[in-house]
Amino acid sequence: MTSATHATSLFSRHLRKPYPVAVRGQGCWIVDASGRRYLDASGQAAVVSIGHGIAEIGRAMAEQSSKIAFAHTTQFVSEPAEKLAARVLAIAPANFRNGGRVYFTSGGSEATETAIKLARQYFLETKQPLRYRVVSRKQSYHGSTLGAMSVSGNVGRRAPYAPMIPEWGHVAPCFCYHCPFDKTYPGCNVACADDLDKFLRANDASSVAAFLFEPVVGATLGAAPAVDGYTARIAEICRQNGILVIADEVMTGMGRTGKPFASSHWGFEPDIILTGKGIASGYAPLGAVLVAPHIVDAFERGTATFMHGFTYQAHPVATAAGNAVFDYLEAHQLFEGVAPAGESLYKAIAKLASHPHVGQVRGLGLLQGVEFVKDKNTREPFPKDAGIAEKIRLAALENGVLLYPGQGTVDGSRGDHILLAPPFVIKPEEGELIADALCYAVGKVFAA
Ligand SMILES: Cc1ncc(COP(=O)(O)O)c(C=O)c1O
Repeated sequence: MTSATHATSLFSRHLRKPYPVAVRGQGCWIVDASGRRYLDASGQAAVVSIGHGIAEIGRAMAEQSSKIAFAHTTQFVSEPAEKLAARVLAIAPANFRNGGRVYFTSGGSEATETAIKLARQYFLETKQPLRYRVVSRKQSYHGSTLGAMSVSGNVGRRAPYAPMIPEWGHVAPCFCYHCPFDKTYPGCNVACADDLDKFLRANDASSVAAFLFEPVVGATLGAAPAVDGYTARIAEICRQNGILVIADEVMTGMGRTGKPFASSHWGFEPDIILTGKGIASGYAPLGAVLVAPHIVDAFERGTATFMHGFTYQAHPVATAAGNAVFDYLEAHQLFEGVAPAGESLYKAIAKLASHPHVGQVRGLGLLQGVEFVKDKNTREPFPKDAGIAEKIRLAALENGVLLYPGQGTVDGSRGDHILLAPPFVIKPEEGELIADALCYAVGKVFAA
């Protein structure tokens, strides 16, 4: 253990790993108890948008909690929750205006659970009780609770719990670099979207309630955006089959990709959007489910009662944090800054692309990924045991840069990438530091 770690009573993520104690943050930097500074290129798993250490967010939370910290949602609503819901709907795709609603949770997994149950109950309200399955995609992640795991296609994260989770069906991802059909865009005619159609024809479409997917796949594929035409075809297939379409924007929502929601890059209007992470920039645990007006109407005309709830849903202090973060994003025009900051970061890291083991540098806005391959021509990955992504993470850490590594990029087992999702306030010189650390890491890991 280093001096920055300590004896622990915490059931931490890895019981044999010593963790430094985070004590302070500022902008894109985190400082540990020994005074060591880290450049947060990962945004702590794509959470931190406005940067670390913004004191006014804490003040807004303290002010709310000094007035009323908690009131149960069976008995009250709160001003910050009402206000934040209206603000989130105002930046959502147009179909959420005029009657959309927001269900606040304490994070992304709860948002996924909520959406699964909301989709199910929508079909009970509309007298289609046979519809309950939520089809999703291979190579995806929607959260760690059992319902969210059941729709996730992340092989490694699902494996230990496989006997405990239902299998409702997983179709192909949209991932051109390792196209599951060995086709090339645009000649492929988005065969990956048609895989949903094929699946529904073969697997009792009348029992399906919803299709759930990430418009830009984050943790599992390392920032792989949908191609043009994909979301339109998905919307068409879902409409034809009478099923809801849910966009998981837990990672991509609230500005991360350069638009308030990534769906808007393609003019895509889902029935339900999940968001989390950046909505409170890590200052409070907060997630949200955006519900389109036609779903709200169905509930209003039906039982008007959603058979679901969490004690801490729409928490006044968490939503106060969300409003303060929103104020900060607006005051500093940070939504508008993501696209140029993303371009600058991309330019800095693009120099890696010529390395023989860097397969692709990709992404959208400030959600970017670097994939490592054994053979650049065949795109063959390294064997799993080589542990490339973790080695890259450790080598970058020598230079104080924090990365989010991922393994299983190709098939859930083989394939390595790192994800970059820094705070929106990243400066060009910090992008250069990230690029330098990555160049060093690549040089070290692939030296032999
Ligand atoms: C796309 C996506 N959905 C859902 C989740 C789960 O969110 P949480 O970890 O806040 O429960 C994540 C977390 O990484 C995510 O990236």
